[in-house]
Amino acid sequence: MASLRTTSRLVASTKPLFRPAVFARPYATVEQGMESSRGNYASSKPVSETNTSTVQDPKPSETPNVKTFHIYRWNPDHPTEKPKMQSYQLDLKKTGPMMLDALIRIKNELDPTLTFRRSCREGICGSCAMNIDGVNTLACLCRIPTESSHEARIYPLPHTYVVKDLVPDLTQFYKQYKSIKPYLQRDTKSEDGLENRQSPEERKKLDGLYECILCACCSTSCPSYWWNSEEYLGPAILLQSYRWLADSRDEKTAERKHALDNSMSVYRCHTILNCSRTCPKGLNPARAIAEIKKMLATN
Ligand code: SF4
Ligand code: SF4
Ligand code: FES
Repeated sequence: MASLRTTSRLVASTKPLFRPAVFARPYATVEQGMESSRGNYASSKPVSETNTSTVQDPKPSETPNVKTFHIYRWNPDHPTEKPKMQSYQLDLKKTGPMMLDALIRIKNELDPTLTFRRSCREGICGSCAMNIDGVNTLACLCRIPTESSHEARIYPLPHTYVVKDLVPDLTQFYKQYKSIKPYLQRDTKSEDGLENRQSPEERKKLDGLYECILCACCSTSCPSYWWNSEEYLGPAILLQSYRWLADSRDEKTAERKHALDNSMSVYRCHTILNCSRTCPKGLNPARAIAEIKKMLATN
């Protein structure tokens, strides 16, 4: 919450009023005016630049290529302390090519208290999603710009409650995912009692949908989701929802449509398209939402 006061006048003036008292955690955000999660971050102010000293690479090479990483820090063990930016310097010659390599090296060699999620290191698990230089992306797929003059800024996914440092609380996101019943629903058995078959053409309709890894980069880049995340499902969950609406094997299309046919679940999407611009897997959630709207309009 402290970060709100220093980074976003708009957020600061509205969101805390609606926040349950239980949330003493800060709310990761970037300054008002970040219309796209891509590229506008330079104009935003970090949460707090207070006097944190820079932690330097303990083992630089003889001719180091030093790069500075400014990283959002907040510790739930000190809930009254404001979030701050901590700076670290790494010799890129001793660091792997991706942002996740830098984070892992910082944690292993400079500061073991830095906290972030990661697992697969190849863009499959979705757990290393964060905001890097103004873009929601996967740290393991994001190359470190090699020109050392560029200083990287790394935040948790915007407008999420923060568990610690770069770890966002995705409880509401997964609750919404569960609500769409993301599994095959059928009352009838397949002809041979074994597989539920579909034609290659029917299967093709799932391309661009099944690849979603639920990283939440798109939902947390969506202004509509920022303001209405209790009721609006957001682009990731709607893409998943359409994945089942488009599946020829599923027999609950009418029920799925009925669950979405209200003023909030889908229609808070105003086609701003941040979601499709930011998806690190190159998917197009906005198109999936448009397809849902089409299905609802042709009831
Ligand atoms: S297109 Fe819809 S879901 Fe995507 S960012 Fe815009 S409002 Fe959000
Ligand atoms: S649509 Fe893309 S950005 Fe959104 S959750 Fe899926 S993989 Fe992540
Ligand atoms: S570590 Fe799995 S997607 Fe980055």
